[in-house]
Amino acid sequence: MVQPYKHEPFTDFTNEKEREGYLLGLKTVEGYLGQDYDLLIGGERISTEDKIVSTNPSNKEEVIGRVSKANRELAEKAMQAAVEAFKTWKKVKPETRADVLFKAAAIIRRRKHEFSALLTKEAGKPWKEADADTAEAIDFLEYYARQMLAIKDGVPVNSRPNEFNRYGYIPLGVGVIISPWNFPLAIMAGTTVAAIVTGNTVLLKPASTTPIVAAKFVEVMEEAGLPAGVLNFVPGSGAEVGDYLVDHKDTRFISFTGSRDVGLRIFERSSKLNEGQIWLKRVIAEMGGKDTIVVDSDADLELAAQSIVAGAFGFSGQKCSACSRAVIVEDVYDQVLNRVVELTNELTLGNPEEQSTFMGPVIDQSAFDKIMSYVEIGKQEGKLMTGGEGDSSKGFFIKPTVIADLGPNDRLMQEEIFGPVVGFTKAKDFTEAIEIANNTEYGLTGAVITRNRAHIEQAREDFHVGNLYFNRSCTGAIVGYQPFGGFNMSGTDSKAGGPDYLLLHMQAKTTSEMF
Ligand code: SER
Repeated sequence: MVQPYKHEPFTDFTNEKEREGYLLGLKTVEGYLGQDYDLLIGGERISTEDKIVSTNPSNKEEVIGRVSKANRELAEKAMQAAVEAFKTWKKVKPETRADVLFKAAAIIRRRKHEFSALLTKEAGKPWKEADADTAEAIDFLEYYARQMLAIKDGVPVNSRPNEFNRYGYIPLGVGVIISPWNFPLAIMAGTTVAAIVTGNTVLLKPASTTPIVAAKFVEVMEEAGLPAGVLNFVPGSGAEVGDYLVDHKDTRFISFTGSRDVGLRIFERSSKLNEGQIWLKRVIAEMGGKDTIVVDSDADLELAAQSIVAGAFGFSGQKCSACSRAVIVEDVYDQVLNRVVELTNELTLGNPEEQSTFMGPVIDQSAFDKIMSYVEIGKQEGKLMTGGEGDSSKGFFIKPTVIADLGPNDRLMQEEIFGPVVGFTKAKDFTEAIEIANNTEYGLTGAVITRNRAHIEQAREDFHVGNLYFNRSCTGAIVGYQPFGGFNMSGTDSKAGGPDYLLLHMQAKTTSEMF
């Protein structure tokens, strides 16, 4: 019997030993900066001339590593390796597949600070955010391994006399995993292993800004005993490798996490039947968010302000769960806004390798430019209260920015910015606040700060988001505790880290025998 699942605790960095552990992790990572990484196809390491160069977003000069870049020919080779490996991997016992995940979790746990330090270097995550990303990766491994054990025998169905009916789940086939840069370890690992533990084989195309942490994870999975061809590593461009694999006749499903636009492109392309294809592809898509914290008139206002600041500026607002809208009932609007501005002005912005840094850089130049253009839009639509400045000379730093007095339909309140910018709007009462909160095309996370029990119930019914939180911020879902995923344009309504997530990677088979 395996131990019951419990989430990986966050590291207490006030503990000197843990602090030293992280600094040692940073040294380890510095020891392998700038190295080359190969593709992995059917167990074979393949190096290409063409490379993706991964750099540190806090310090553009620093090269984290160079990863070989797949082209169509190599993507095809990887597809054939995955098709071949599926024939045997699907027959491997679920217990054995789960054991690979348990061992991978143990390896990452042993190298926890090294992985976190790599996330600091490659994605610009400050200590706490990096630590949470690594802990979440461990959680996905531990949780999905147990979930596989829980569903391996299927679900009981009725049988009549002299009849024995069974209902079980079998894998789908080859999956294409397209993972994001904002949780470059957790979401990349979670989406990959959910597909693998259920008996599928995969092609992993990591985000081009964070391929090194993915390469390191692939090494862990090999060390944990994953057979060749089950996990194929094919970094490359979306237009070349991404489209090719999404369109491929042998692709059975696509698990994508990223922007709304890329998600829609994948959804559309995957719906077209290609020559020789004999199934309808399944798409699991986790897309954007435009997430709101609603503050009621009788809320704990200090809690409200702290929740908004943590949700808006944690990891520079680069989470699909980030609070990018604050909707405040008018009686307390000024108080909450002023306190948020005060707290924001106390935040430290800088090098995420320093323990005291709260907020590091944004991921790259195009993110920097996009966010800064939204700051300009915000200044016109509303009133800049603090922040609004950026500096991309060494790294991509943008001050945490608060824009007040916006209208609910302003662009700043409707479009996903994916940066450290939060917009404020006023509602005349709680009912109007919920209406404004729902007034976006997304439906990922939301939070309500209130002491009013009736309002909690009203929001529970009417606030249409996949993850709704009361009296806390709207980020930081924990695997197995707060299954994560949203409605409407936020994706395909899946819930990562939830009890039915693995089933999205499987199909049910009924057998019926007469005695
Ligand atoms: N799961 C993360 C959170 O809840 C977002 O991807 O913040």
